[in-house]
Amino acid sequence: MTIEQSALPFTRRSLLAAGAALALPLPAAAARSPSSLAALGAAKGIRFGSTIGGKTMADPRYRQLNAAECALIVPENEMKWAALRPDARHFDFRAADRIVAWSTANDIGVRGHTLLWHSERWMPQWVADHDYGSSPAIEAERLLVDHVATVAGRYADRVDSFDVVNEAIDSETGKLRETALSRHLGAIETLELAFRAARQAAPEAQLVYNDYMGWRSDEGLHRDAVLRLLEQLRKRRAPVDALGVQSHLGSKFSDTPTGLGSLDETAWRRFLDEVTGMGFDLLVTEMDVHENPLPGDIAVRDAQVAAHARAYLDLMLSYPQTKTVICWGLSDRYSWLGDFRQRPDGLPKRPSPFDANYKRKPFRDAIAAAFNAAAPR
Ligand code: XIL
Repeated sequence: MTIEQSALPFTRRSLLAAGAALALPLPAAAARSPSSLAALGAAKGIRFGSTIGGKTMADPRYRQLNAAECALIVPENEMKWAALRPDARHFDFRAADRIVAWSTANDIGVRGHTLLWHSERWMPQWVADHDYGSSPAIEAERLLVDHVATVAGRYADRVDSFDVVNEAIDSETGKLRETALSRHLGAIETLELAFRAARQAAPEAQLVYNDYMGWRSDEGLHRDAVLRLLEQLRKRRAPVDALGVQSHLGSKFSDTPTGLGSLDETAWRRFLDEVTGMGFDLLVTEMDVHENPLPGDIAVRDAQVAAHARAYLDLMLSYPQTKTVICWGLSDRYSWLGDFRQRPDGLPKRPSPFDANYKRKPFRDAIAAAFNAAAPR
């Protein structure tokens, strides 16, 4: 198979080609009932969505679950550099196109994630190994702008919100990370460039800085660093519209059965007040609950996950700037958290709104209840 190298926008023709292998679209109205999360959210001006891709895209029951619940889809990995860029010269859009085509056919919106994952670990190795030549800053800028312009431009008609930059801060030190690109361009300059290129290629799209700072007491350094970054980007007039709050709740690091960690709601509200005070919108972009530190008993565990999710969503939705809520996967069967540390009792993890057999869990009902309780926006 040839690699799709064209920088042309995503058209109806590429849509049909990419979607040909998939099942026929479901009639949107039938797919999403009035009690779906999509409909309950929409009643309050909130878009609900989840992520799909790879194995989950190949599972018809999982696709059906997404079509039934979601107004929005995010490709889990397929729009990252690691998936789109086999090397410095080529783009491979096949997997991303299939997701966009499926979403389009099912009348579901698409978010783009992510035009720049500012972390060497998650970029393809060739970016670090690339020959930046005798004018490395010029070559680094060319590479970055070319990538952002090509990807954002291709999907600008279908994607109305992009995570332009992901995880630029080292949460251990509070400093901006160093990458092959930032070594030549400067860190803040790299981020600014990505936002400017995105605005140019997709002028109508919401442009988001996305990161994993949260409401736990031990996340103060990360929260402060994100505020400083947003301030700097504002000062430079970089076109940033919103902060994506990933919302991976709980903790993948703690195995002690002490609950989901010590929270600092006051500091979290102060943080959100400052972010919204600067004029940024908020999105919940990757919600799940890592429940390693909760008891094994399923009813107890699910109830605690649901209560935690409800309290969190009530707080986030108390900000009218929160108009998007996305879960990072709908079913325990495929959650990325399954790849992290196993539970000390060895039991399967339950971080998602639906169980491994696609049965709804209290977490799913907590999202519905939070939407029902939210003020319209
Ligand atoms: C994760 C995917 O879910 C995994 O499949 C992949 O191996 C690594 O990335 N923050 C992000 C997402 O911004 O892109 C990550 O997704 C989860 C953490």
